[in-house]
Amino acid sequence: MNDMVFSPLTIKTRTVPNRFTAQAMEGNDGEGGRPSERTLDRYRNLARGGWGLVISEALSVSETSLARVNGMILNKKNLDGFKALVEVFRNENPTGLLFFQLTHSGERSGDFSERVNLSGGECRRLSSEEIDGIKNSFVEAALLAEEAGADGIDFKLCHGYLGAEMLRPSNTRNDRWGGSFENRCRFLREGVGAIKQGRRSEAFILGSRLSMYEGIRGGCGTGGPDEIIEDLSEMLDLVRLMDELGMDYVNVSAGIPALTGAITRPTEASKYLAYHHLRYTKTVKDLISRENRGLRVIGSAYSSYKAEAPAMMGEMLGKGYTDLCGFGRQIFADPLTPKKYRNGEAVSWCVLCSGCSRLMAAQLNDGCVVYNDYYTSVMKNSARKA
Ligand SMILES: Cc1cc2nc3c(=O)[nH]c(=O)nc-3n(C[C@H](O)[C@H](O)[C@H](O)COP(=O)(O)O)c2cc1C
Ligand code: SF4
Repeated sequence: MNDMVFSPLTIKTRTVPNRFTAQAMEGNDGEGGRPSERTLDRYRNLARGGWGLVISEALSVSETSLARVNGMILNKKNLDGFKALVEVFRNENPTGLLFFQLTHSGERSGDFSERVNLSGGECRRLSSEEIDGIKNSFVEAALLAEEAGADGIDFKLCHGYLGAEMLRPSNTRNDRWGGSFENRCRFLREGVGAIKQGRRSEAFILGSRLSMYEGIRGGCGTGGPDEIIEDLSEMLDLVRLMDELGMDYVNVSAGIPALTGAITRPTEASKYLAYHHLRYTKTVKDLISRENRGLRVIGSAYSSYKAEAPAMMGEMLGKGYTDLCGFGRQIFADPLTPKKYRNGEAVSWCVLCSGCSRLMAAQLNDGCVVYNDYYTSVMKNSARKA
């Protein structure tokens, strides 16, 4: 076993006990915007699994910005529910860190809530004042995350949701939120500035998840509104900005699950696409080392390596290409993965079948249809109805 994967890592004043990171994975099983018993069970299991860092699934910053019918909303009304989630987690794992991922689903908010579209098209365009209001909701949600007891937040900028819509070169709005790189980063810059002013403790950790390349024309990771070819220059400037804003980590991802999903979560047939994630992570880590910056780096898509994942972790950590290794689907396939691996017990490795993604797309409770009987039956019932 490679010692690196179980070695601790400091993020600012805090210590992550090992390098296994549970990435954000929506289970679509909240109740009235709060964690349900099923949600709490999922986080209890993750805590038992001994992940060094757990990042919550995307939590909406407002009632009108959900992507899933049973998604959760981090607002004052639901604060007790999130305090309960933190308590459940800490009772099982007092040393692991827990971050809350904050999002506005933007164009993907769906028919059951407000649709927003920064790049034109059929959806209503948000006014400048509305974007200002959404930014304030991110700040409020971040401060509530701290009040609930989370160790930090992920100010979500990836996977095609609002944070990514703001950043894209194709955001050509002619107000203070679009056009120049400076304007497109304003949402993050002002949001993080206000969170830093409002937080109770400087130990509260701030970071963002990025899609380094979205795979769409004018998307993040291209060089202009009409460019499709990958050009990481702006995304690397964004990493520099995050560091200058005093953020603590960058979580490197790619793609837009709803449009270019194979980039975000490679399947069995396309698992070599996971190597792009390794390259993006290494590129970011190289920049941070070269320029002597303080951000910690989290990599993505480690489920794609199945049983070889711990070896891949060891290699990437050993070569200094990342600080933490993030698993998405594997946390559904076997929430106890780190603990079992450490103890030499058999791990149920994700087989990259996309069953959980299909459940999520169908707006059902989603989880592993291969290893968890509940989700197998959700899948069977939905097939019967279809
Ligand atoms: C069902 C499902 C739900 C997801 N939910 C989120 C989410 O809430 N936030 C996020 O940033 N990524 C989300 N992702 C993406 C994963 O975190 C991860 O980046 C992706 O699955 C690739 O990593 P893997 O190969 O380890 O699964 C989700 C992916 C799936 C399949
Ligand atoms: S349903 Fe398939 S893709 Fe999803 S976690 Fe289970 S094995 Fe992996």
